[in-house]
Amino acid sequence: MTNQSQQTGFLENIPVHLVSAGDYEQEARQRLSDPVWAQIAGGAGDELTLRKNRSAFDALDIIPRLLADFRQADTGVHLFGRRHKFPLLIAPIAHQQLLHPQGELATLAAANALETTFIASTLASTPLETIAAESEQPSWFQLYFQPTREQTLDLLQRAEAAGYEAIVVTLDAPISGLRNRVQRAGFTLPAHIPTPNTAGYKPPAPRNLAPGSSVILNGFMADAPRWEDLQWLREHCNLPLLAKGVLSPADAEQCRATGLDGIIVSNHGGRTLDGLPATIDVLPAIRAAVGNELPLLLDSGIRRGTDIFKALALGADAVLLGRPYLYALATAGALGVAHLLRILREELEIAMALSGRPDIRSIQPDAVTGS
Ligand SMILES: Cc1cc2nc3c(=O)[nH]c(=O)nc-3n(C[C@H](O)[C@H](O)[C@H](O)COP(=O)(O)O)c2cc1C
Repeated sequence: MTNQSQQTGFLENIPVHLVSAGDYEQEARQRLSDPVWAQIAGGAGDELTLRKNRSAFDALDIIPRLLADFRQADTGVHLFGRRHKFPLLIAPIAHQQLLHPQGELATLAAANALETTFIASTLASTPLETIAAESEQPSWFQLYFQPTREQTLDLLQRAEAAGYEAIVVTLDAPISGLRNRVQRAGFTLPAHIPTPNTAGYKPPAPRNLAPGSSVILNGFMADAPRWEDLQWLREHCNLPLLAKGVLSPADAEQCRATGLDGIIVSNHGGRTLDGLPATIDVLPAIRAAVGNELPLLLDSGIRRGTDIFKALALGADAVLLGRPYLYALATAGALGVAHLLRILREELEIAMALSGRPDIRSIQPDAVTGS
């Protein structure tokens, strides 16, 4: 094992000082090596977007209403015919065995306990079939387009056969972002962390580039997915299909026109292009562009129940939680993730109680100001 492999010595009881997602972040920082920390906590370039993901939420205030009727209070939301008890899902995150020997299965155990939907990454360190078999409520599968349509179709059909309930196709990372923090820390994926979902797929033959052409623009990007590929995926996908990584109203409209069933407004947690806007800042325009019916989810920067509240107010139907559950996983495995999910649930309930919004439908744009 190298110093980049997963650590041991996970907490078996939750100490009193861990009461928020921020506390788990600090605890995880003490427990992880510098390279692994850079890999999970870092963002692209100068991390402008990473910071903005937080400052944009912090800049919003909640306007409370008094004396509301809570006799029918409820945090439930309906997505694609299923009731979710709470408007929070587990974002797809690669290589979770980097943080805990049970990886995705530890996160999933917490999701099962809290009846929270888990979104399995294409790059999970656990086979998609194993995750589906261990899911006590249907999970969703996050799909990255593969080098060939045959491989993409194989992955899609494996996910459908395994019992996933929705497909999330991630569109914002045709190439990796320039993550300078990771480069400086010298992180590389340890050889013992597997990527079983794609291990059987032949890598693409290298493109013969004309002299003087760009490896990025004429090489990788020439083979990157296009709208016609999304259309093709729509035609072959028998499940609700969501696009992840949308930041512009025009792309949101085009996704809807392509027949997608939902959109995830995301900047990949600030890990792709530095300089992208905070998702909460573009959410109202995207909601306006697609109308009120299309399910809109949001991630990037969710750290508090009040952040979930603000996202719901500005047009999201639910949110995805990213890094914070990795920090909880690295601290206390499934117990830590379950504890964190419980914290966020309670924080949202308290925000609803003290702002006079008894259910998700009542959290409307008039509940926040400052956007
Ligand atoms: C270490 C790491 C790995 C990730 N892997 C994936 C992935 O495999 N697929 C994907 O669609 N998004 C991936 N994401 C992005 C998350 O799904 C999500 O958009 C992001 O973490 C949300 O921002 P937050 O971490 O600020 O909550 C990854 C994020 C991190 C931090």
